[in-house]
Amino acid sequence: VSPRIELRRDVGRLGVADGPWIRRRQIARIVGAPDPHAVAQVVDRAGDTVGWGLVSAVSSITVRMLAFGPIAPADDWLQQRLAAAVAAREAYRFDEEGTTGYRLVNSEGDGLPGLVIDRYERDLVVQITTAPMAAREGAILDWLRARGEGALHVVLPDAAGKVEGIAPAVRRDHEVPHLTFHEHGLRFDVPAPPSQKTGAYFDQRANRRVVAHLARRHGGALLDVGCHVGGFALHARKLGVPVVALDQSELALELAARNAAHNGLTGGIEWIRGDMFGALDAVRGEFGTIVVDPPKIAARRSDLDRAIPALSRLAQRLAPRVADGGHLVLCSCSHHLVREHLDRVVATLPGADAGAWPRVQILGAGFDHPTMPCHREGEYLRVDVHQRRG
Ligand SMILES: C[S@@+](CC[C@H](N)C(=O)[O-])C[C@H]1O[C@@H](n2cnc3c(N)ncnc32)[C@H](O)[C@@H]1O
Repeated sequence: VSPRIELRRDVGRLGVADGPWIRRRQIARIVGAPDPHAVAQVVDRAGDTVGWGLVSAVSSITVRMLAFGPIAPADDWLQQRLAAAVAAREAYRFDEEGTTGYRLVNSEGDGLPGLVIDRYERDLVVQITTAPMAAREGAILDWLRARGEGALHVVLPDAAGKVEGIAPAVRRDHEVPHLTFHEHGLRFDVPAPPSQKTGAYFDQRANRRVVAHLARRHGGALLDVGCHVGGFALHARKLGVPVVALDQSELALELAARNAAHNGLTGGIEWIRGDMFGALDAVRGEFGTIVVDPPKIAARRSDLDRAIPALSRLAQRLAPRVADGGHLVLCSCSHHLVREHLDRVVATLPGADAGAWPRVQILGAGFDHPTMPCHREGEYLRVDVHQRRG
């Protein structure tokens, strides 16, 4: 029996424009057991149906909506939505552009809250971050196996385990040290789970190509800050751009150098192990392009007070190294750290008050990272390109 979620009177009429999450404080009471396997009916104080959602009994994000309005999702909504997500990716024909690593399912953006699936050639990494999706792990894997996918690795991250009350786990189909994929013709190996994200940062795929071409057009060297396994660095190097790349992870740098070798790009790249928020003494010279791709530095809104000044100090250290006419590419993968905050960071750069750092391009995640309109938390990647003028 599906539980009924009764909303508080002061919540008003909720609809798709309010986003797909209903928080504990918006709920008056839950009638029936909040079974993670069931789809719950959400009703307002008058008893009218607001929609249907998945319930996480212990999380402050208590309901993730699957549909608004009176019509309940079909019994096979999970399989239908998986099929639609996969068909959408197939229609983009990423393989025709030399890409075999991409996101197959992007949580709310594909109507599958709490589920991310990334493809690494034939193998998949299935990341589950909510209790109701964890309850459906078997059904998800059955559906994927029936399609004849390669190895299926499952990750229930520690952080999600805490907020959702599910047991963290990494279940690998078989022991592999690396996952391999191609991106725009370049081969990459990334650490197998447990690792950063599902292994790779597919959200920046299109931007790696844009920034590489920008760097080639300018002609100066590229500085890749937070280079992970060499994404921006190798794409630029392939176009003949000299590269300096920095990360603090030894494992990431090891794989970055190995990826360079696999692609025959051994010369012209300097790999530096270091803290991007430190003095950056090891980084010397001037650059035509600097890309700054930090980790998630504002997981909570309250982190912004610390994150914005830290990013400003980093940008201030790097800005004088950008050649005239060159570009500073500032990225944020924290949904709390929005464009206005990145603008505030740029406003602290020397000359910004006299118009020296105009924003020339706004980039984001690619076609394989759909977001549900009005789901602000799903829209996390911001990439702003600024040009140095004078
Ligand atoms: C968002 S990822 C970058 C993704 C990468 N640019 C790409 O295109 O694949 C952030 C990177 O910053 C690194 N990192 C985290 N904290 C760091 C720090 N304090 N200093 C340097 N690198 C750091 C992580 O190891 C990770 O590789």
